[in-house]
Amino acid sequence: MSNTIKRIGILTGGGDCPGLNAVIRAVAKSAHEGGVEVMGIEDGYLGLIENRMKLLTSADVSGILTHGGTILGSSNKANPSNYALPDGKGGWVMTDVRDQVVSHYQQAKLDAMVVIGGDGTMSGAAKLIDRGLRFVGVPKTIDNDLMCTDITFGHNTAVTTATDALDKVHTTASSHHRVMVVELMGRYAGWLALNSGVASGSDVILIPEIPFDLQKVADKCLQRNKYGKRFTIVAVGEGAKPIGGQQFVERVDATAPDPIRLGGIAKYVADQVEKLTHLESRSIVLGHVQRGGTPTAGDRMLATTFGYHAFELLMAGQFGHLVVQQKNEITSVPIVDVADKVRTVPLNDKLLLAARAIGTCFGD
Ligand code: F6P
Repeated sequence: MSNTIKRIGILTGGGDCPGLNAVIRAVAKSAHEGGVEVMGIEDGYLGLIENRMKLLTSADVSGILTHGGTILGSSNKANPSNYALPDGKGGWVMTDVRDQVVSHYQQAKLDAMVVIGGDGTMSGAAKLIDRGLRFVGVPKTIDNDLMCTDITFGHNTAVTTATDALDKVHTTASSHHRVMVVELMGRYAGWLALNSGVASGSDVILIPEIPFDLQKVADKCLQRNKYGKRFTIVAVGEGAKPIGGQQFVERVDATAPDPIRLGGIAKYVADQVEKLTHLESRSIVLGHVQRGGTPTAGDRMLATTFGYHAFELLMAGQFGHLVVQQKNEITSVPIVDVADKVRTVPLNDKLLLAARAIGTCFGD
């Protein structure tokens, strides 16, 4: 492989999120300015496995800054070193198809690639870097759970959407004197529930990092009733669990390298709180609404910065690195340092401490 970069590939892997198109645009426009061709890989690693890619022109990446989703498509099931193929008996067998990927990368004459994704995508990248492919990563996820970066793009938009939803349920909660439990995404980290919970002034915030006691939640609802606030808003992360209990699994997808899909905790909390308090309690699952819509201005700025710096890393030959933001500085870390890891909320997080100080209940 020559060290001169003439043609790069770009893919978006894992769950979609607002800002993906803004990164694609920033990478492609920077590349075009520098005379470098860009191949868009379709549907994440699936496009590399199945050899589906196309040249991205300036027209392809024009007018997409404000669009949610990804013009390239994505997949959260296609990790080349652990890819589900039919076993011929109605089941699946996890298979290493990296040889196929290396061959398609070489056939397309790619000099390097930008991979945009979360921990699963970076884990896939780390195993292809082992095979000599030249990758640079960009950290994406609404969950904000990637190691070594203070922020991932997409999170701010998801927090804004979740906050808006929590604000809106205040109306019915207060008119009908109900406990409203809203389930938020975030997998095994509580960033989305914590940040939107605080931003909306939720009375109770339940996150995976702090197993909760239902009686504490019930007491908070009753105490609010006593001093005249006849409703309670509970923001609960999908990965939250009662003390001594398990996380709620909604479905298991045998074809995905990470097969667990969480869900169901809000209904459990609402049902139990109603039993303990005799206050009418309802649950809402916000779901994929949190991944949709136009990115906020903050996410557009972050995605553009990340995209440009990813291209700069490629041109500087800093392969195997992920662009990150640490203490307001844009820098980079080795992709292997973040692969398969989860950044959870530390118990001394400043916002968590502030929320506790103003009386927010965390169920502990
Ligand atoms: O990682 C992003 C995310 O939206 C998580 O918050 C959620 O647990 C998961 O993806 C849902 O995945 P799917 O779209 O496969 O249901």
